[in-house]
Amino acid sequence: MSTLNIAIIGTGGITLQNHLPGLALCKDVKVHALCDANPTTLETARQQTGAPVTATKWEDIVKRDDVHALIIATPNAFHPPVAIAAARSGKHVLSEKPLALNAADAHAMADAAEQANVRHMTAFTYRFVPAMRYLKHLVDQGELGRPYHYRSCRLQDWGTRNVGWRQQKKLAGTGEIGDMLSHRIDFAHHLVGPMARLVANLKTLTPVRGGAPNDTDDWVAILAEFQCGASGVLESSKLASGTNESWRSPDRVELNGSEASFSFTTGTWNELQFGKVGGPGLKALPIPREFYTWPGSPRDPGVGDPLVSFRYDQAVEFINAIREQRPCSVTFHDGARMQDVTDAALKSAETRQWVDLA
Ligand SMILES: NC(=O)c1ccc[n+]([C@@H]2O[C@H](COP(=O)([O-])OP(=O)(O)OC[C@H]3O[C@@H](n4cnc5c(N)ncnc54)[C@H](O)[C@@H]3O)[C@@H](O)[C@H]2O)c1
Repeated sequence: MSTLNIAIIGTGGITLQNHLPGLALCKDVKVHALCDANPTTLETARQQTGAPVTATKWEDIVKRDDVHALIIATPNAFHPPVAIAAARSGKHVLSEKPLALNAADAHAMADAAEQANVRHMTAFTYRFVPAMRYLKHLVDQGELGRPYHYRSCRLQDWGTRNVGWRQQKKLAGTGEIGDMLSHRIDFAHHLVGPMARLVANLKTLTPVRGGAPNDTDDWVAILAEFQCGASGVLESSKLASGTNESWRSPDRVELNGSEASFSFTTGTWNELQFGKVGGPGLKALPIPREFYTWPGSPRDPGVGDPLVSFRYDQAVEFINAIREQRPCSVTFHDGARMQDVTDAALKSAETRQWVDLA
């Protein structure tokens, strides 16, 4: 297979912002087929890519012999049926997060992809932030020591505006927890390992957004115990008034261990804060240049807004994993175990109890 033909299902915001520029970096890759339920959105993407095949129904795309791999970027409810049908037709699949509306469906996606022996990837895009990659490298080298605490805080100001399908449980599954906290739950797994139990609360403070009903959460907090004994505190809000809603609004990850503490904010993508145990306090630790881009990415880190362009390395990793016939760095299993946490958090909030994770 010299040229890889890609199909994209869902050609809205994230496809234009992340997936198309990411694929454009990849050699011998063609955006061959596009699908969107909205013909106007579909036409915009067609004009941008020149893709020869278009459809408004994903069923018309997933089984085509001339499609080798799929990117799924629809509202969350459609990820599982598309991914499972595509995997069963032998297509490699990159799905947006959260993978599904619940953990069972996310695990079914991982099972289908494993059984079909196709590459599978969850779009946990913030794994590609240079500061996150360097932090993971330092943790793996033992610089943190024994992990004591994981902390993450994502604060945005979305006000009370209508957020479309994101405020409908039947399409989104959840609100803030699946939309924003999902990435930070994945960081926690990535840096500290699996959670053992948690207690959580979620709140819908805006039951009406932009004149339409909202049955999803605006705010979530989780208190967690990890299997390694570390504690975790995770919070995410769409209603942190005045914090702005951009990538530069507060997005903090912190780790304290027996040897050191580290923290970073996504906005300062090229720097960690670091302090040694017993030392004078946190100070800036610049990210080495080799962490500016993902291994195998041809991207010039000096081109474009670095807070946007790191996201393009995700498509590069997907394509390289297909070519190299190896697992993607972030699989459906990672997406499914994030969703185990989401389900447990919902159960905890409903029952007002601690919930054990399997
Ligand atoms: N990884 C990230 O950092 C990140 C960032 C933003 C969004 N996302 C995820 O990407 C996905 C899409 O989000 P978005 O912001 O692009 O939303 P969007 O609303 O801008 O785009 C979704 C598109 O899917 C289309 N669509 C709806 N139902 C469809 C169907 N049955 N078949 C085909 N197309 C259909 C819509 O017409 C729309 O154009 C979501 O799962 C979201 O959580 C991930």
